[in-house]
Amino acid sequence: MTTTADQSLWLSALPATPRPPLTGKHTFDVAVVGGGITGLTTALLLKRRGLRVVVLEAGRVASGVSGNNTAKVTALQSTVYSQIIKAHGLAAATDYATASLAAVAQVADLVQLENISCDLRRAPAATYAYTGSEAQQVDDELIAARRAGLPVRSSVDLDLPFEVHAAVRLDDQLTLHPVKYLLGLAAAVDGDGSQVCENSRVLDVSGTRVSTADGQVDAAHIVIATHFPTLDRGLYFARMELTRAYCIAARVSSPPEALAISTGSPSWSIAAHEDKLIVAGQSHPTGKQAVEPFRRLEEFARRHWQVEEITHRWSAQDPTAYDHLPMIGTYLPGNNTMFTATGYMKWGLTSGTFAASLLADLVTGKPNDLADRFSPHRLSLKSLPELVKKNAEVAVEFIGDRVLPADATSSENLPRDHAHVIRDGLGKTGVYRDADGQLHAVSLRCTHLGCLVRFNAAERSWDCPCHGSRFDIDGEVLEGPATRPLPKREPR
Ligand SMILES: Cc1cc2nc3c(=O)[nH]c(=O)nc-3n(C[C@H](O)[C@H](O)[C@H](O)COP(=O)(O)OP(=O)(O)OC[C@H]3O[C@@H](n4cnc5c(N)ncnc54)[C@H](O)[C@@H]3O)c2cc1C
Ligand code: FES
Repeated sequence: MTTTADQSLWLSALPATPRPPLTGKHTFDVAVVGGGITGLTTALLLKRRGLRVVVLEAGRVASGVSGNNTAKVTALQSTVYSQIIKAHGLAAATDYATASLAAVAQVADLVQLENISCDLRRAPAATYAYTGSEAQQVDDELIAARRAGLPVRSSVDLDLPFEVHAAVRLDDQLTLHPVKYLLGLAAAVDGDGSQVCENSRVLDVSGTRVSTADGQVDAAHIVIATHFPTLDRGLYFARMELTRAYCIAARVSSPPEALAISTGSPSWSIAAHEDKLIVAGQSHPTGKQAVEPFRRLEEFARRHWQVEEITHRWSAQDPTAYDHLPMIGTYLPGNNTMFTATGYMKWGLTSGTFAASLLADLVTGKPNDLADRFSPHRLSLKSLPELVKKNAEVAVEFIGDRVLPADATSSENLPRDHAHVIRDGLGKTGVYRDADGQLHAVSLRCTHLGCLVRFNAAERSWDCPCHGSRFDIDGEVLEGPATRPLPKREPR
């Protein structure tokens, strides 16, 4: 589960009854771990090539980030082309644009071929300037996206109820109901020797064997599509940063048509579904504090639209690689058995789809020109300083938090729906008092590599500033790389 706030706009489409979990011993051609857009699209493409595939999903399909986003499927993605050109040069940006355009087309094709009912709508995508000071960045992105090969144009005519200072526009992009789309993919995977299993958390991968609590699969190939590669190998956590962002849905009389995102900080991302406006933003590195993110999004919505009702609030996080390109390929260098894809920078409905095409080629041994570009094992010399800086920041968190004082000695006066930190003989304990007055206490030492987690008041979770693991108030893992819960403590 990625969200602990009110459910996302999309998750109520999940059927009440889950698919059966994996039980017993089985053999498949491919085992795909994770039932988000990456896992399900990869599984379907492999099945279409004649392979028998099993998808093992820890919870419900689509309940990860793929069911907690703003549902834009677009090749124009904020200022991504300016960033890629800066970090890698024009050829990389051209590859990214080509792959992204192909992914948008592929989503539309799969919807049609598999007859998926998912409220698909064509819409213009836009990167816009909300303030005058953002206009230069937008103009730069227009040039970068055009150089990368996207048929973009400059147009401030976006059907938005406020002044737009500059905008890049790409027509004919898509929005859809992501959970309905993923349910359609899952239905297409099931059958003819392939299978999607829910409530089947993979606990161990050894060689070509994948194990859950009640079952075991032997497969020639394994695809780890768990969003953040959770297997404790490959040092992915040291090369990526997780950013958390917040979303609201509001019933309004005239929802906008465009899928728009502003370039400033804060950034305001806008989309719509049926009679609802979606506003997203207030991003921050996971583990750092957001200041009343939902209130700020709501204020923005009310400032510009006649809001009848805020219907949903949700949040999620997505990893960005230190060099700003997705990582897609073999899990470990030189091992052609196990593959992964991650690092979508909050654009994974598009890049998770092109990742699936690339993974399907890698698994079936078909040459693909993009393999080296997106390889997780590339070395991006220009971005090395960023990698060093990121890991230095983690080291500061690791050491610095140990010497900070705790903020209380007892929880007697802790108000309801508040948390604080107390020190005891075992180290630091985080205590949260819930709305009913009950105390929940956990060790604050992250079970991944030992940084101290911090309370996220917007979501009532303990979040790790080092590599983005998240835990609920009783210590259960909400998101990795951590795989073990925080030990419970006696509240004091
Ligand atoms: C606020 C926000 C808004 C966004 N909006 C957009 C948008 O408008 N457009 C866009 O393109 N992208 C958007 N994104 C990004 C996009 O949603 C993600 O990049 C994409 O959904 C990631 O897909 P995934 O399949 O890799 O991960 P997920 O959807 O998270 O799927 C991974 C699955 O693996 C499962 N899993 C984990 N561990 C195990 C295990 N051990 N065993 C079995 N299963 C396991 C999880 O339960 C989960 O279901 C947004 C992201 C955020 C944070
Ligand atoms: S996520 Fe790595 S130390 Fe917490």
